[in-house]
Amino acid sequence: MSNPASAQLDQLKTQAQQAFEKAQNLQDLYNAKVQYLGKTGAVTDVMKAMATLPKEEKPQFGKKVNEVKEFLEKLYAELELNLKNQEIHSKMENERLDLTLPGSGSILGSLHPVQKVTDEIVQIMARLGYSLRTGPLIEKDYYNFEALNIPQDHPARDMQDTFFVDQTHVLRTHTSPIQIHSLENEKLPLRIIGTGAVFRCDSDISHLPHFHQIEALCVDEKISMADLKGTIAFFVREFFGPGLKTRFRPSFFPFTEPSAEVDCSCPVCKGSGCALCKNSGWIEIGGSGLVNPRVFENAKIEYPKWQGFAFGFGIERMAIIKYGIEDIRLLPENDLRFLRQFS
Ligand code: DAH
Repeated sequence: MSNPASAQLDQLKTQAQQAFEKAQNLQDLYNAKVQYLGKTGAVTDVMKAMATLPKEEKPQFGKKVNEVKEFLEKLYAELELNLKNQEIHSKMENERLDLTLPGSGSILGSLHPVQKVTDEIVQIMARLGYSLRTGPLIEKDYYNFEALNIPQDHPARDMQDTFFVDQTHVLRTHTSPIQIHSLENEKLPLRIIGTGAVFRCDSDISHLPHFHQIEALCVDEKISMADLKGTIAFFVREFFGPGLKTRFRPSFFPFTEPSAEVDCSCPVCKGSGCALCKNSGWIEIGGSGLVNPRVFENAKIEYPKWQGFAFGFGIERMAIIKYGIEDIRLLPENDLRFLRQFS
């Protein structure tokens, strides 16, 4: 068959084949298909020439057109499959997962060591029947001082460097006012433990201006120093474990009589002397004593029918002793490298 339409068809076939094979990606390949096989494509155009052919040539020409179309469609399908595979392959190359890389993980928070120590102390005291109380951070002068037998202008006020809010209110300097709220509002006998933040104008290697205390108060009918010592001995042993030594040192607090300070052997130098314990081998953790009858009197509680003991310890102090932390200022800094050691 040698009509011009047939020659044109041969030419188109070759051109289309080249265009298909040249396509670098699916889009180019598709465009080439549209160009030759689409509704207005070149091959479709040639088919239109069929109308002008003599009748006897039509079937042969029609057959040839179909062959060309079939050939090109088959070629297209093959090339399309190849390109698709190539694309998947290169995508996999580019987005390759390195399964040996460490996972990114999620960062878990944890309790601050001060909170951990507080929780542990509360749990230990709960086993002795003490229940938890809190109180306001801004206290009336009366609760922070007066009711605790620290009258205005008394030299004992100098023991606690106070932040004053106004004439009659202070940032509480200790958790002892929690005792007064309980004595005023609760039924006797009483076993409470108070915890929370306290504030003093004081800052060095062993003092913070904002720190935490726990306060214990036991009021019952016959209470002696023996009860106080027994309770503190139990508490300290449960908290620190058996390896640490404690001692009671006679002392003075206006709200207790007699009073004793409680020291623990220094965990850093083990008693030989270091900066933390100021070369004494001991670290003071707080004060204690039998409730001063004046305090009962202020709270309108009958004495000696009711007697009591109390103690108040610094939580940061207990934390540095328990964990052997050399500088108390690390605790409020909240450097994650430090905090993570406790999680
Ligand atoms: N509140 C005292 C302080 O912060 C500590 C203290 C001493 C508390 C004796 C007590 C206690 O409950 O009985 O220095």
